[in-house]
Amino acid sequence: MILVTCAAGKTGKAIVDALVKTGQDVRAMVRSDRSLESVRAAGVAEAITGDLAFAEDVLRAADGVDAVYYIAPNMDPNERLNGDNIIAACQSANVARLVFHSVLHTQIEALPHHWERHFVEQSILNSKLSFTILQVGSYMQNMLPAWEKMAETGVHRMAYDIDAPMSLVDLDDVSEAAVKILADDGFANGMFEIAGPAISLNQKAAILSSVLGKEIVAEKEALDAFLDHGRALGFSDFTLATMAKMFPYYDKHGLVGSNKALGWILGRAPTDFETFARRTVAGLGQGS
Ligand SMILES: NC(=O)c1ccc[n+]([C@@H]2O[C@H](COP(=O)([O-])OP(=O)(O)OC[C@H]3O[C@@H](n4cnc5c(N)ncnc54)[C@H](OP(=O)(O)O)[C@@H]3O)[C@@H](O)[C@H]2O)c1
Repeated sequence: MILVTCAAGKTGKAIVDALVKTGQDVRAMVRSDRSLESVRAAGVAEAITGDLAFAEDVLRAADGVDAVYYIAPNMDPNERLNGDNIIAACQSANVARLVFHSVLHTQIEALPHHWERHFVEQSILNSKLSFTILQVGSYMQNMLPAWEKMAETGVHRMAYDIDAPMSLVDLDDVSEAAVKILADDGFANGMFEIAGPAISLNQKAAILSSVLGKEIVAEKEALDAFLDHGRALGFSDFTLATMAKMFPYYDKHGLVGSNKALGWILGRAPTDFETFARRTVAGLGQGS
């Protein structure tokens, strides 16, 4: 049995689906009752609720499992507490492996949600647990909620410089890699960058123009406008403060990793943005 935390989120759904498809027994941990239904629909063996910030909940979640695939909440003020709780629960349950779904370049202090992770990674290294740390790049799928609007208006808008390079990765590739990593003890005690080929908003817009058969231009959304929009959508103050630091960092540096490890794990080249865009268009019945 494999425990997957944050199982109803964007990442969790993809990892759970991939594990269930390959016949793994999954115990899905979600926070809210309303998320139980979605993980049950995915065919998990067990679905439970719990809060990662509560040690008792996490001990109960890990009890009796063979491995834990730890997905942390996105931009959470309790990053270190959640991590400590997971480590203690893995130790208590004697799990054979803890896989931590981390982020690319946790050494960057200017990115608070990456920097906090590096403390969790350190605690995992010192835990005597058998672990694998995956340092995962931003997903290509992050643009899907705005896809229809982008296709309609002809503007691909994000709150960072249109020439900043980002090693976007296809979440389907990440899930395929996660299944292989969990099944192979050779990945124990290793840290791997899970990133795709670097691409800028401008380069994405050129590809989207060709795939959709209409001109798409890249545009940088002003940070204040983005944060106002996020506030209206109900983003927490912590998330907004984190994003207010993240986008100026992206402006200056982008976020670029190597796609070599992912290619080696998958046994093929990681999916590039054009392939992802064509697959999305085919799924939506768009394009010329
Ligand atoms: N998005 C990316 O591009 C990307 C790239 C690399 C790595 N990651 C990492 O992947 C992780 C997940 O990101 P995501 O985008 O998939 O997040 P998401 O879609 O926002 O999902 C997060 C899930 O976390 C659950 N959750 C929140 N607080 C919790 C708590 N205290 N205890 C238990 N569960 C809690 C929520 O459960 P309920 O629905 O039940 O409330 C929610 O479903 C993050 O750590 C992020 O850094 C993301």
